[in-house]
Amino acid sequence: MTLTHAKPHVHVRAVGLDPTRMPRHVAIIMDGNGRWAKARTWDRTRGHQQGAEVVRTITTESVKLGIDRLTLFAFSSENWIRPQHEIDFLMLLLDQFLVGELPTLMENDVRLEAIGSLHRLPANVRATLDHTLSATADNRTMVLSLALSYGGRDELTDACRAIATEVAAGRIAPHEITQETIQAHLYAPRAEDVDLVIRTAGEQRLSNFLPWQATYAEYVSVEALWPDFGVAPYHAALAEFQTRERRFGGV
Ligand code: IPE
Ligand code: IPE
Ligand code: MG
Repeated sequence: MTLTHAKPHVHVRAVGLDPTRMPRHVAIIMDGNGRWAKARTWDRTRGHQQGAEVVRTITTESVKLGIDRLTLFAFSSENWIRPQHEIDFLMLLLDQFLVGELPTLMENDVRLEAIGSLHRLPANVRATLDHTLSATADNRTMVLSLALSYGGRDELTDACRAIATEVAAGRIAPHEITQETIQAHLYAPRAEDVDLVIRTAGEQRLSNFLPWQATYAEYVSVEALWPDFGVAPYHAALAEFQTRERRFGGV
């Protein structure tokens, strides 16, 4: 761990947040890249390019704030229906990000994880991803989890299939299936529940994101388009989270 990250609570206080009420797992639906580009009469791809810069900013800031896990929705299982040239560009951008960000991830002691139907990614991207995953595997300060070709229903369907296979093989009886069994078959089985979901671009929907993990998350919708998001709106979303009373069904 580098010295700059040794005392996240000092930074948290300095930016006006309460260190005792910080979320541990933040998940972000990064939306509005296309609208950002359209407003400038540019191609949608330029919005994605700018959005990738914001990913770096928010990742680094999350480390400084002492967040344990940052999950970013980068590409959904539904996004495969987009025009092929946009998909190709997003895959190129992802590949460049995985190569280009490696030094920053190492410097910040960030471990990369990926959740989703990763087999659907192009082989070259898959290879780059595997390299960055293994290069950062021993990092401990924060986990950056990228949701790639991710769909919550796919994730639960995959978990059901894997559990059914174990039942069929006689390794587990149906009555032994618990919430822990399902958790253990998710793409990131050891991840804690999501505390806060932020969605940019003013949208108020989940779009198939983390249905199991975010059942008790607080939702914050921010007006900024993802390429305009940054440290200040991030702090504002965290401040909003800190005003919420989390009851978990209690009184
Ligand atoms: C989010 O921005 C990035 C991805 C979904 C890959 P969009 O591309 O959805 O941008 P809008 O919603 O069209 O503005
Ligand atoms: C959700 O955004 C997926 C990502 C941010 C990667 P979309 O832009 O694809 O979601 P919808 O289509 O508006 O629901
Ligand atoms: Mg969108």
